[in-house]
Amino acid sequence: MNEPAEHVNMASINDNYLKLTAGYLFPEISRRVKAFTAAQPEANLIRLGIGDVTEPLPQACIEAMTQAVSEMGVRETFRGYMDDSQGYDWLREKIAENDFRARGCDVSADEIFVSDGSKSDTANVLDILATGENRIAVTDPVYPVYVDTNVMAGNTGDADESGKYAGVTYLPVTAENDFTPALPSDPVDVIYLCSPNNPTGAALSREKLAKWVDYAREHRSLILFDAAYEAFITDASIPHSIYEIDGARDVAIEFRSFSKNAGFTGTRCAYTVIPRSLAGTAADGTEQPLHPLWARRHNTKFNGVSYIIQRGAEAAYSSDGQQQVRELVGFYLENARLLREGLQQIGIDVYGGVNAPYIWLKTPGGLSSWDFFDRLLEAGRLVGTPGSGFGAAGEGYFRLSAFNSRKNVEQAVERFQRVAG
Ligand code: MLT
Repeated sequence: MNEPAEHVNMASINDNYLKLTAGYLFPEISRRVKAFTAAQPEANLIRLGIGDVTEPLPQACIEAMTQAVSEMGVRETFRGYMDDSQGYDWLREKIAENDFRARGCDVSADEIFVSDGSKSDTANVLDILATGENRIAVTDPVYPVYVDTNVMAGNTGDADESGKYAGVTYLPVTAENDFTPALPSDPVDVIYLCSPNNPTGAALSREKLAKWVDYAREHRSLILFDAAYEAFITDASIPHSIYEIDGARDVAIEFRSFSKNAGFTGTRCAYTVIPRSLAGTAADGTEQPLHPLWARRHNTKFNGVSYIIQRGAEAAYSSDGQQQVRELVGFYLENARLLREGLQQIGIDVYGGVNAPYIWLKTPGGLSSWDFFDRLLEAGRLVGTPGSGFGAAGEGYFRLSAFNSRKNVEQAVERFQRVAG
């Protein structure tokens, strides 16, 4: 007789997923917003929560992609799989020239891997690192993806009530330390740094970044440097790339994205730099370069970004494209200024928003981050991101994104002043 269905053997799951606390931050926000709008369908919400761009793509990118679509319709110019999923040479050459060599950084096209996003790359990089062996350091608050993917990979223990996972070194960044992480007191192997920072909007100065590079060289640690927001740097003394620091090629991977500068959040294109000189240690103690490991992973698990999209990304480096990207970034930075100054006028402590598209504020009246979220939603019809969603040290803070239309930002400032003033 057949066994009843509930007794058949089932595939075993990755139990690490059961350790994840609550949902990923942004789905949790959507859940609350959905519940609110179901109850109040007329509410005209302004969303300054997720850092998603709102303005149309640069015209140069549109024209290049349109042209690429036409090429795909003609036998002679049609493209199928790429020879190598690392990305087309013409795009990687433009990246190396404009984003690195122009800033004096020694990065070659061959060290650049074009991908569909920095979120995926910062997550997937764990594929080429040992599981359960590395001591991981993150700032607190932090972009949740860095932590959650380490939980999924089995690099952590369980979470405590504050949401901190055992085995992870958290480096608090608060107003008290000027949002600058202190070097860890116990040695760590892998360090995630994001500058300009999501969520605090703070950017690491050359001196501070150099301290991290020195630390990594001394302790033979790997820095995973997320520079997705580098286009928003307005202070000329702040490095755009970690490779502007001497010695970084031996200790750092850098992640870059077209999402926030050229507005590609829905278009999808990014890249990761793995210098040839960067190495890790194998179980037998030998030193192994990371570049061939990542190349192997990339070619096995990924078929590359589409030709059409890579042409669009390439166009962001044309002179028209660069001008249009500067205008887009300038538009969002002006939004950031309006938000920052509007909040300061009502006595709120505001950080970020100068070299980053994020405003990080202290919740008024000592409210918890989620209580302030609910108050803004209910009384102001405004959606932001609770600081505690980015980590325990983010409690009592709140993030606003400057990615929105001017009209919405102006209205948001008025509503904010009404509700929180
Ligand atoms: C955010 O709001 O933090 C962004 O959406 C991050 C991202 O680009 O994934």
